[in-house]
Amino acid sequence: MRSVARVVVVVVVVVLLLAVTGSGASPLHVRVSPQATHRQRLQAARALLKESPLIDGHNDLAWNARMFLHNKLHSFNLSSDLTQQKPWMNSPFSHTDLPRLKKGHVAAQFWSVYVPCESQYLNTVQLLLEQIDVVKRMIAGSHKDTVLVRSPAEIMKEFERGRVASLMGMEGGHGLASSMGVVRAVYDLGVRYITLTHKCHTPWAECSETGPHPPNTRGLTPYGQELIREMNRVGLMVDVSHASASTARDVLTISRAPVIFSHSAARALCDIERNVPDDILSSLAENGGIVMVSFYNDFLTCSQAASIQDVVAHINHVRTMAGVDYVGLGAGYDGVNRTPKGLENVSRYPELFAELLRDPTWSLQDLKKLAGLNLLRVFTRVEQVREELVSEKPSEEIIPIHDIDTRWPCRYKFASLDHART
Ligand SMILES: *[C@@H]1O[C@H](CO)[C@@H](O)[C@H](O)[C@H]1NC(C)=O
Ligand SMILES: *[C@@H]1O[C@H](CO)[C@@H](O)[C@H](O)[C@H]1NC(C)=O
Repeated sequence: MRSVARVVVVVVVVVLLLAVTGSGASPLHVRVSPQATHRQRLQAARALLKESPLIDGHNDLAWNARMFLHNKLHSFNLSSDLTQQKPWMNSPFSHTDLPRLKKGHVAAQFWSVYVPCESQYLNTVQLLLEQIDVVKRMIAGSHKDTVLVRSPAEIMKEFERGRVASLMGMEGGHGLASSMGVVRAVYDLGVRYITLTHKCHTPWAECSETGPHPPNTRGLTPYGQELIREMNRVGLMVDVSHASASTARDVLTISRAPVIFSHSAARALCDIERNVPDDILSSLAENGGIVMVSFYNDFLTCSQAASIQDVVAHINHVRTMAGVDYVGLGAGYDGVNRTPKGLENVSRYPELFAELLRDPTWSLQDLKKLAGLNLLRVFTRVEQVREELVSEKPSEEIIPIHDIDTRWPCRYKFASLDHART
């Protein structure tokens, strides 16, 4: 009897100890004091990110695979330390590998499948498919550490398993070749958001760069609006980072699902077209969307230098103007060559949370929202809208011929169709 009692006592003590020391799953009840040391705040930040997922909206590693390796992955290993390997070790554009993602407590990463504007009206769809392919092969090569997921539920499943959830976001609506069929196909391939423009206007949406303007594009054209409706219907998140403010306003007006900015900063703090103006931030809550704050120095301070405090300032500005439910993280690592002091690579996210813990107005729950819960809410709502629209028919709209004809001479022309629409 006595030895049974002793076993019971030992078991109870072990269970209690596990609960207190937190071997992964213990709830954080008490917020660390804002006056705590850096070490204590960093420890609290790590505990927070173990408990609740961190989701980053944008990483350009896959384009570096194109530029550095021509998409040849035979000697590439995302699970290895890329700081020890050429050409990654020498590149100011390289900030990412799985060891650092894990150190950074990144639960889910949207990998950008990007195609350059120079390919618009050329082989852009081929380049897009090759980027989707290279992301899938990169992930398959590291299946013990990461796996491609397609839903909020799968993000949470992988978070609980301890693997990084990989997702794909397509950057540059020109990659759609203005085709509803391509929208549906990229969803089927696993893409979960589309950035409507990169640095060029498409025939149906205006980008944030100034430059030669096609006549029809101030904001979204009617065909652009139809594309948004189709993206809502299939369950693709609409991303308006890189789009002009007029395009973003048009999208916010017509989208039936929340809209994202996958990697943008606040225009009030750095006045460039690429950043989000205050009127859009103020109206974001109505749509239920999210601004995922970019860590690119040039967007943060309008100069080449920036620090972790500048990222905090942008996050706080979005929180003030939009609300704490509408802010997230979209660092943009591997797509930029200047990152803030303190946030040099993907291993550094806990430093950001340690910094935010100095501010008593950030509660633990709000920090979890910033880290990933807000994006999960948006993604979940986008899936619900897809369910709600299940009886809607796929769009069969074709872009008006006069919107592309002179700009896209080298395409197969269906004589009767073009004739009918001229
Ligand atoms: C990739 O790197 C990891 C970590 O060094 C190693 O465990 C794994 O075996 C490597 N994979 C291949 C295919 O070499
Ligand atoms: C990541 O950034 C930190 C801070 O600058 C630096 O100490 C560390 O060496 C970097 N890690 C890698 C692997 O690049």
